[in-house]
Amino acid sequence: MSNRMWGGRFSEGPDAIMEEINASIDFDKKLYAQDIRGSKAHAEMLAARGVLSAADAEAIAAGLDEIGAEIEAGRFTFSRALEDIHMNVEASLKERIGEPAGRLHTARSRNDQVATDFKLWVRDTVDHLHDQLTALMQALLTRAEEHAGTVMPGFTHLQSAQPVTFGHHMMAYVEMFDRDRGRLADARRRLNECPLGAAALAGTSFPIDRHMTAASLGFDRPTANSLDSVSDRDFALEVLAAAAIAAVHLSRLAEEIVIWSSAQFRFVRLSDKFSTGSSIMPQKRNPDAAELVRAKSGRIIGGLNALLIVMKGLPLAYSKDMQEDKEQTFDALASYSLVVAAMTGMIRDMTVNIEAMRAAAGSGFSTATDLADWLVRAGGIPFRDAHHVTGRIVGIAAERGIELADVPLADMQGVDARITEAVYDVLSVDDSVRSRTSYGGTAPANVAAMAALWRDRLGA
Ligand code: ARG
Repeated sequence: MSNRMWGGRFSEGPDAIMEEINASIDFDKKLYAQDIRGSKAHAEMLAARGVLSAADAEAIAAGLDEIGAEIEAGRFTFSRALEDIHMNVEASLKERIGEPAGRLHTARSRNDQVATDFKLWVRDTVDHLHDQLTALMQALLTRAEEHAGTVMPGFTHLQSAQPVTFGHHMMAYVEMFDRDRGRLADARRRLNECPLGAAALAGTSFPIDRHMTAASLGFDRPTANSLDSVSDRDFALEVLAAAAIAAVHLSRLAEEIVIWSSAQFRFVRLSDKFSTGSSIMPQKRNPDAAELVRAKSGRIIGGLNALLIVMKGLPLAYSKDMQEDKEQTFDALASYSLVVAAMTGMIRDMTVNIEAMRAAAGSGFSTATDLADWLVRAGGIPFRDAHHVTGRIVGIAAERGIELADVPLADMQGVDARITEAVYDVLSVDDSVRSRTSYGGTAPANVAAMAALWRDRLGA
């Protein structure tokens, strides 16, 4: 049987393989609520413009509501032969209300319809992700408030660099996830123009009111160019790009959690709820959730790449290639949502091992920079020379297997006679972090002030 929706020119139905490659209903049924919402807005506008009778518009709206409720309740039977969500809904409407259903598609095409539905879906998802990121930031902020003064090693090259505080480290991610929220908000602002009424590609000769449908669907305005309206998938690409960057942040934090929770580091302990055991090694507590957050960044970045590649060679306007936008976007954004939720749970639940962090912070000559800075301040020595002097003192400590603070004064003076007893005041990790009061630095007082500022912005 040829397709009831466009079969006028066809005498034969599609090959089974054609149906399989062409049908999108298996995944685009996710858009049912947006499709119904868009159709109701369109019908209402057509009636307001006298293109549809009020009675037809009412019958259409009632029928669409019925379909929505059936899909919601899982009682609707989707048909692959009808290709996609748009035609499944319209065919079902026809069965319910008869002829007026056939008038719904006046001054509209599936091309502007799908662009509208998909935009509405992406917009809803962006709003949800934004809220989820806020919850993650609140979880990080709570840990930062608790640990504004908890000393830990700061690393560069994963080698001990200078002591920082755990609160400072948590707040670093608050900044990152705030930028990720900002990227979502930017994308949302740009996507919020309504393509409905662009029709197939050229606009329509019917006297439609695109401003009316745009407003009733919560868009700021209609899109300005009909060709662009049905060709544009920037809105999905931009959100996927924002997702990919956030996924990189989440993956880096996940990697740190994997390192921190190892038996060699013991900086944090994940809760039972966010750990798994080994079927053979009884001692194991594996950070699977963190590993999967790290891994799913691959899927999210992959989704962005896949859609960029789908779009890059398409002439204007619509091509069926664009149907491939949905699975990638659905999967990537579902993964994004899942990893944010998992990370929020891990951060909320994890136990912070203050002693292990403190012990590690003091090892690896982490206050060597403090010694060099002291030489500059107290001895008036140029920093480059101070660096050299300090390097020699670190050499003595390393050779004897002791910490910097345990190198006797006489030995320090043997390297540079200007060193006095007062140097020992800067060699502890607490002194080190307390001294880092420059704006944005790790001093516990700074961290507490920054956390208070964020608490104000984010709420409880
Ligand atoms: N299922 C299609 C999609 O997702 C809907 C648009 C179909 N338009 C067309 N001209 N065949 O892109």
